[in-house]
This record gives sequence, C-alpha cells and structure tokens, in this order.
Amino acid sequence: MHTNIEPSILYFGTPVILLSTLNEDGSTNIAPISSVWWLGWSCMIGLDATSKSTENLKRNGECILNLASGDLAPKVNKLALLTGSEAIPLHKKMLGYKHSKNKFIHSGFTPQENGTGKLSAITECPIHLHARVNTISEFGQGDERMAVPAYSIELNIKTVSAVPSVLMEGSNNKIDPNKWNPLIMNFREFFSLSAQLNESRLARKPEALYAPWKQKGIKRLLGKWLLTRSNKKYGH
Ligand SMILES: Cc1cc2nc3c(=O)[nH]c(=O)nc-3n(C[C@H](O)[C@H](O)[C@H](O)COP(=O)(O)O)c2cc1C
Repeated sequence: MHTNIEPSILYFGTPVILLSTLNEDGSTNIAPISSVWWLGWSCMIGLDATSKSTENLKRNGECILNLASGDLAPKVNKLALLTGSEAIPLHKKMLGYKHSKNKFIHSGFTPQENGTGKLSAITECPIHLHARVNTISEFGQGDERMAVPAYSIELNIKTVSAVPSVLMEGSNNKIDPNKWNPLIMNFREFFSLSAQLNESRLARKPEALYAPWKQKGIKRLLGKWLLTRSNKKYGH
C-alpha cells in the first residue's frame, strides 16, 4: 500500500557531472550538478539561476560536462558548498556556501587544456563532453515549491572524449557499461552503481539504429527518407 508523502526534495538519483564554464577573465569555473539527462546528442541540465555557471553559460554558451566516476566522490565533495560567484545569494548563505575563485585548487582536481579553447576539462573525469548552449528556459515557474529561480538548459554535444579504460574491447566508439561506473547523487548522498542486474532486451538491439547519421551513401539517404516519412506523423 502506498501513502502520499511530501519530500522537501525530489532527488531520486542522477549522475553527477562537473560543469566547466568560462569566467570573464578566461579562467575555468567547475561546479557539480546532478540535474542532467541525455537524448541523442543533446543534453538537458537544470541550473540554479544564481550560480556562476549559469552566468557564464548565458554570456559565453560553451561548456564541458566532465562525467564523474564513483571513485571521485571525495574530491567532488570538496566542491560542494562552493560558488564561483562573489555575491552569494541568501539561500546559499543559509547553507554555508563560500566563494571560491579557483575550485581546482580547493578540490585537488587537475585542469586539462583543451586544444583550441581556453576552457579546461577535468583530467580525473574519464569522460568529457564538449557542448554549446542551444536553449535556456525558465524552469518551475509558478510553482511555489520551487525555492530558487532555475533554468533548464539544453546543450548540443559537440565532441565526446573518453579514456581507453572505459571503452569496450575492440571498439573506439563504445563505452562499456561494465567499465564505466558513474557517480550518482541519491537524495544528496553519493552512490555508485552496483553490478549489472538482468539481461536487457533493449541492449540486444543494434546500437547503430540510434545513429542513422553514421550510415554512408545510399543506406544513409534511404534511412533518412524513411525516417522523415515516418516522423512526419508526429509533427517532426
Ligand atoms: C553532488 C551535487 C549535485 C548538485 N546538483 C546541482 C544541480 O543539478 N543543479 C544546480 O543548480 N546545483 C546543483 N548543485 C549545487 C551547485 O554545485 C551549486 O549551485 C554551486 O554553487 C554551483 O557552482 P557555481 O555557483 O560556481 O556555478 C549540486 C551540488 C552537488 C555537491
């Protein structure tokens, strides 16, 4: 029998990413967030409107999502209760947040230069997603239970880079779910994934079907035509 409950927060368990964004002076701000999900090569993140990350994304639009693995929990914990904003908003003051100009130094994470841009990734994170802002929308408007102003931000993933130790044997393009163990935030506590549980019928279907854009020549043209025809029914 279920009973209605009223939790103060609804943090049911999502992966922790460390968001690199560019400060005005060209340095990199890093911030842990866990309101994140992916669909295709786009990603949705949820951000407190008062955060330095939000300010940076609005100004510059570029970011790196550094995906944290379970073993990084102690370092991620050092980033908690820090903000890159000099003016700390009331709700963060009440939680004891402090300003940090250089969160790499505070946390012990190592900045990794990224070819052309100034933005640094985090070396210790096994997967880096370079992304750009697509849309920024107000989130939770009109809901009095939304304690802080927030945005949902849609990002387009430009590149994915990963360390070899999380890749499937014999493939440069597949993350092995048996080797990749994301850090999960579950009601503000840190967890990692346990062992694989059950055979997955979905995972037995060809992964290539998720990426028709990877097909070449006539297969690509035919696939595009068929999908366009089918998707029309759904207003796309
Ligand atoms: C594990 C973890 C997950 C968090 N998830 C989010 C989140 O999803 N969205 C958000 O706005 N803040 C989240 N926070 C709080 C931010 O880290 C906090 O707002 C911080 O001040 C952001 O840094 P910034 O102000 O330098 O951008 C999370 C904090 C921790 C420790």
